[in-house]
Amino acid sequence: MSAAAANPTKPGLEDVVVSPSEICFIDGHKGRLVYRGFDVDGLVAQSTFEEVTYLLWYGRLPTRKEMDAHVKALSSTANRKLPPKLLAMLRLFPKKTTPMEILRTGVSALSAFDPDAEDNSREATLRKSIRLTAQMPTLVAAWDRIRSGKAPVGPNPRLSLAGNFVYMMSGRKPTPLATKTFDVALILHADHEFNASTFAARVTAATLSDLHAAVVSGIGALKGPLHGGANEQVMLMVEKIKDPGKADRWIRQALADKARIMGFGHRVYRVEDPRAKHLKRLALELGRQAGSTAAVEILDIMARVVSAEKHLFPNVDLYSGAAYASMGISTDEFTPIFAMSRVAGWAAHVLEQHGNNRLIRPRSDYTGLTDEKYVPLAQR
Ligand code: CMC
Repeated sequence: MSAAAANPTKPGLEDVVVSPSEICFIDGHKGRLVYRGFDVDGLVAQSTFEEVTYLLWYGRLPTRKEMDAHVKALSSTANRKLPPKLLAMLRLFPKKTTPMEILRTGVSALSAFDPDAEDNSREATLRKSIRLTAQMPTLVAAWDRIRSGKAPVGPNPRLSLAGNFVYMMSGRKPTPLATKTFDVALILHADHEFNASTFAARVTAATLSDLHAAVVSGIGALKGPLHGGANEQVMLMVEKIKDPGKADRWIRQALADKARIMGFGHRVYRVEDPRAKHLKRLALELGRQAGSTAAVEILDIMARVVSAEKHLFPNVDLYSGAAYASMGISTDEFTPIFAMSRVAGWAAHVLEQHGNNRLIRPRSDYTGLTDEKYVPLAQR
């Protein structure tokens, strides 16, 4: 009997429950997202990305002393800086290499310099989680500057992870609003249950492979436009529309053409993604500060039409790009920024997977031939 006869296939593994997990809860009907028992709305209002990484990895909020030590570890120059040989390697890549390719390659290369690379104990994986979370923004910022002919800016240990990223990208002291925006964006993207990239990371971890390998798998899966790559595609759409006055017609035509509209729809949410409203608020604030709210106006018009016509609602990727673009961040950096945050979730899931492991190995519904006769090459 085939595997599928005993278990009907579920295309896209829709609604398939793979394993218990204590990290993240999504209520797709109420539009609720919870990390380790804490509603993400409350975390956005009161927490920081650094604290959220602690919460995801250790399963509880830190005490003052634990928080200070954790922030110190995530901020130290030793953990944030890139090995000089890796920086030299970055200078060898063609300037057209996308930031997501550099991130995927750079994270893989970082394992060669990591003292715990082959150690999969919980303690070593926690040390690697801190290092990777601290290094990824440096890698993203360094490539952004190298590809535009500028010298990379070294990390500043006095700045938060969010503020330091803005500083390393621009070389200038970050404004409070820019720091707040990145911090909120990092909190909101930090985890999302068994999404495609986290599942990819867990599949890799379940072979007893290491954190760097799992994160490389995660980055590979995040890159696609149906997942993290959607934020970049949204901005390309906004750039095409340009004028809010043209948005209604443009989006109706796209729907009539049966186009897939990036930034809308979700496998789990049946209502608006709870993360979208926070990013919209920040995008609007940054737009006002930068002197144009046109991008948010265009996105709002699209949201009105798409929800009315298709009953599809904004997801996390709809407004994030508008916020980043107001800060002068290029479109192809949006997905790497997503990864800089999601590494926290990937690490939490690797720790959980290693803590109670079983190989993840599903079956296929084989629809090919079974009794072909082999004809030698000379007789074909
Ligand atoms: N635009 C137009 N139609 C859509 C969209 C969309 N964004 N999303 C779903 N649909 C339609 C789809 O055409 C299909 O219609 P029909 O049944 O008539 O063929 C129906 O809705 C179901 O779509 P599906 O692709 O089977 O749904 P799914 O659960 O497999 O896909 C999704 C979920 C997120 C991939 C999809 O909604 C999509 O492609 N959205 C656009 C890409 C996007 O924004 N991705 C980011 C997701 S959230 C953050 C993240 O994970 O990074």
